[in-house]
Amino acid sequence: MEKFYITTAIDYVNGAPHIGHAYEKILTDVIYRHFTQRCDNTYFLTGTDEHGIKIQKTSAEKGVSPKEFCDMNAQKFKDAWKALDIDYSQFIRTTDEQHEKVVQKIFKKLVDKGDIYKHAYTGLYCSGCEAFLSEKDLTEDGLCPDHLKKPEVVKEENYFFKLTKYKDAIIKHIKTNPDFIIPSFRANEVINQLENIEDISVSRAKTNVNWGIPVLGDDEQVIYVWIDALSNYITALGYDPEGSSEKFKQFWPATVQVIGKDILKFHSIYWIAILMALELPLPEHILAHGWITIDQTKMSKSLGNVISPTSVMEAFNLDIPDPFRYYMASAAPCGKDGNYSDEDFKEKVNAHLANSMGNLLNRTLSMLVKYFDGDIKPEFLGKNSLKEQALDTVKAVKHHFDYIEIQEAALKINELVDITNKYVTDNAPWTLAKEGQMDKCGEVLTNVLQVMTVISSLIYPYCPNIAKAMAEQLSYDLNTKLDDITCESLNAGHLIDKENIKPVFLRLDSELADKKKN
Ligand code: MSP
Repeated sequence: MEKFYITTAIDYVNGAPHIGHAYEKILTDVIYRHFTQRCDNTYFLTGTDEHGIKIQKTSAEKGVSPKEFCDMNAQKFKDAWKALDIDYSQFIRTTDEQHEKVVQKIFKKLVDKGDIYKHAYTGLYCSGCEAFLSEKDLTEDGLCPDHLKKPEVVKEENYFFKLTKYKDAIIKHIKTNPDFIIPSFRANEVINQLENIEDISVSRAKTNVNWGIPVLGDDEQVIYVWIDALSNYITALGYDPEGSSEKFKQFWPATVQVIGKDILKFHSIYWIAILMALELPLPEHILAHGWITIDQTKMSKSLGNVISPTSVMEAFNLDIPDPFRYYMASAAPCGKDGNYSDEDFKEKVNAHLANSMGNLLNRTLSMLVKYFDGDIKPEFLGKNSLKEQALDTVKAVKHHFDYIEIQEAALKINELVDITNKYVTDNAPWTLAKEGQMDKCGEVLTNVLQVMTVISSLIYPYCPNIAKAMAEQLSYDLNTKLDDITCESLNAGHLIDKENIKPVFLRLDSELADKKKN
C-alpha cells in the first residue's frame, strides 16, 4: 500500500461533542492506526463544520458573534478528541482562511465551467439538515422526518449546480465499483435517490444567511454550507484550482471517507458530482456507519439522554480512553446501529480487557518471575505450537480491516486471547513446575508471551495505551509492522523483574462509578 488517506465527517459546532460524534472519530482512528501498522504514508483528517443558518441562529441566541461561538465550541471538539487519543494529522475548521479562499475558487471554477447557473427558486429549507427538502421528503404533517420541524418556505434567487449532468456517471460508478459504498446494502438506496435527483441550490441569499463564505463577485450570495463543508476533504490537503500542493498530489484521492448513514446522500451524490465537475479522482470507499443509541433510545436533547464521551470517562474514573475506545469500536458490525449502556460497557471491558487479556499477561509474567527470575532461557525458544494460530489471526485481522470490519477484527483478537488462555489452562505451567518439568514449563510461558507480543500489536489500534504498557513489559517494539510479525520476537535473556510487572488494565470499579454518578 503506497499511501492511506482517511477522513471523518466534520461536526457542526452548535453544541458540544456527544458519543455519536465520538463513535465516528474512534472508528476512524482505529482504522487509521491499523493502517499505520501497514503503511508509512498515512494521513487522517477531521475537523468542524462552522458556517450556516444553524450556527448563525444559535450564536445570536447566545449573544455572541458566530466566530466567537465557533472558536469556543471547536475547542470542545479538539479537547474531546485529545482525551480519546484521536491521533489525527490535521484538524480543519471551515472558518480557516485558506479553506474559505479555496472554496471560493472551487465555486468560481464550476461557474466558469457552466456547471453552476443562477435560478429563481422557492423551496422548503430545514435548518437542522441545512438542506432544501421536497414535499415528498416530509412526514404527513409536513415536518422534516429527521428533525420533526416544519421547514421554512424560502424564496430566493440562488446559484444552482447541475447535479443532473452527473447522474448517469455516478450511477455507473456505483454499479461498477461494488465496494465503493460500504456497507454495500446502502448502494441501492443511493441509486434510488439518484433516479429522482434534481439540480441543487448551492448558494443562499445574504439577506437570509450571512454566516457563510461569500460568492466571489456577488455581494448578495453566500456559498451553500454543504458545498463549503464537503470541499474540506481537498482544501485541507492544499487543493487549489490554480495549482495544488504536493500534499494534495500525494494523498488525494481518499482511501476511506467515514461518515454516518444520515449524510450518505451528500457524500455519495453531491460530493461525487463536485469531484467529477472538478475532474478529480474519486475516493476509493465511503463508509456509512450506523448510529449509536443510548439504552436502545435515539439520543436527543429533548429526551435529555445526550451523553458526552468525557462524561463516560469521568463516570468510570478512567485515566485512559482505551476501554471506551474498545467498546465503541466494537459496538456494532460495520454499517449497523450500535448501542451504549453503562452496564454493557462495564461488563464487556471487564471481561475482555481486564479478565481475559490483562490477566493473561499478568499471571504469565508473574510465573516467569516466580519460576525463572524473569529469564527466558534459550531452551524455551523455538517450539511454539501457538505460532500458527497467532499468525493466522494477524492475517484474519488484516483481512477484516481491508473490508472495514472493525468489530469482526476485535472478535478475532479476542478469539486469540481465549485460545491462549485455554493453552495455559491445558498445559498448567504451575503443575509442570511442581513436577519439576522446568524446561516444559518455561516453554509454555515463553510461548504465551510470544503470542502476547502479537496481541499487543493487534490491540494497539483500539487500545493504544494498554498496548504500550503490554509491549513495555515484554520489551517488544510496538512499531513492528504487521507484515513483519513473526511471533518470535522475544529472545533468550532477562525479560522482567517483579517490581516492573503491572496490570495493564484494572476492572472497572462499579461501586466507585455509581457513587460518582449519583
Ligand atoms: N456537518 C455535517 C457533516 C459535514 S461533512 C462534510 C454533519 N455534522 S453532525 O455534527 O451533525 O454530524 C457529524 C457526524 O456525526 C456525522 O457523520 C453523523 O452521522 C455523526 N453522528 C451524529 N450523531 C450520531 C449518532 N448518534 N451516532 C453515530 N453517529 C452520529 O452532519
